[in-house]
Amino acid sequence: MKDTPFLLLGPIRQLLTLSNLPDRGGIADDALMPLTNGGILMRGEHIYRVGPFCELVAEATALQATFVELSDDFIGMPGLVDAHTHICFAGSRAGDYALRNAGKTYLEIAQTGGGIWDTVTQTRHTTLSDLTRLTVQRANRHVRDGVTTIEVKSGYGLSIAEELKMLRAIEQANGQTVTDLISTCLAAHMLPKDYHGTAERYLQELTEELLPTLQTEQLTQRVDAFIEQGAFSAEQIAPYFAAAQRMGFSITVHADQFHPGGSAVAVAFEALSVDHLEASGDHEIQLLAQSRVIPVALPGASLGLGCGFAPARRLLDAGTSLAIASDWNPGSAPMGDLLAQAAILGASEKLTTAEVLSGITFRAALALNCTDRGKIQAGMLADLILFPGNDYREILYQQGRLKPQHVWKRGTLVG
Ligand code: NIG
Ligand code: FE
Repeated sequence: MKDTPFLLLGPIRQLLTLSNLPDRGGIADDALMPLTNGGILMRGEHIYRVGPFCELVAEATALQATFVELSDDFIGMPGLVDAHTHICFAGSRAGDYALRNAGKTYLEIAQTGGGIWDTVTQTRHTTLSDLTRLTVQRANRHVRDGVTTIEVKSGYGLSIAEELKMLRAIEQANGQTVTDLISTCLAAHMLPKDYHGTAERYLQELTEELLPTLQTEQLTQRVDAFIEQGAFSAEQIAPYFAAAQRMGFSITVHADQFHPGGSAVAVAFEALSVDHLEASGDHEIQLLAQSRVIPVALPGASLGLGCGFAPARRLLDAGTSLAIASDWNPGSAPMGDLLAQAAILGASEKLTTAEVLSGITFRAALALNCTDRGKIQAGMLADLILFPGNDYREILYQQGRLKPQHVWKRGTLVG
């Protein structure tokens, strides 16, 4: 890779590299230490060196770098990472939303045939190419909002063939958008209503027929399940996770959304992440603090359902990590605006700016086991976003209204 071109970007009025921040625990804002008039020297897709712009000029000139000089004020930070979405779907659930606001609960709507099953029906009636197109459209909207890595789950197919269709759509969408899509198999989202058998039998079929195909076709390395009343119990999921783990899949869990229980499974299986946690109490928080599992708060689901947030402050104080993701999906979290939701969670849960920004960058990347992104430092992917302005505190203060003016993905300006 001798000829990989160099590029020098800057000066960036305030550059938040996030490079010295810890992987877990609370973070005081003093630790942010923005670099004034920072420069980023990139080599191809990666960051080669970071420092004061004026100190990088000589080296960049010697390396025959392309110069991208900024004359306006910008705040720079790593590209955002959304570690939990369901953006591969068809249809809308505006009806569910109206019903919930009129007094029905999420679980009641699911029991009467709406909810996830409604989206399953619509997604099954959508072709692979249409599903790919819808996923690309949503991913591109996320790119404009500064999201340069997006996890995307299946889970609206709920049969071997339809789950494969979803995961193939996600794979094809990944080739048609500049952002990186990281797929997860959520075939254990709920017991399909047209399945004539027990939950145990369904999970066994997934184990024997779906997971090996996912490996052969290299469609995903990640397996998720919804542990909740009306979905799957901890006891039902344990053998499924054990088999998936033996096959080499990483585990992630939808846990403690309405009732506690799933987080203990996440800890027992040393899952990469445990997501939702709105119903977690002291016991679950302590359990998570003694593990390496990364809690993922999903404020978009709380806003969509009109319920409380995950106990983000208490989790950090207990010493866990904390990622914040959008959960963008047609049912519980239709908004799909990661930055707005993270800002609102921060205001409600009293999270420092450093904690919120870490939760949507490197801590989210770690929840996806992506150690190559989320900080602006040498060796990391050159994924970064530039907001207009000269005070980084404006990013959360404007609660999502301040959008990045420029988005760089893998060393290329994409928006
Ligand atoms: O993360 N909790 C379960 N799954 C999704 C919602 C899916 C849906 O309602 O369509 C979630 O909130
Ligand atoms: Fe979800």
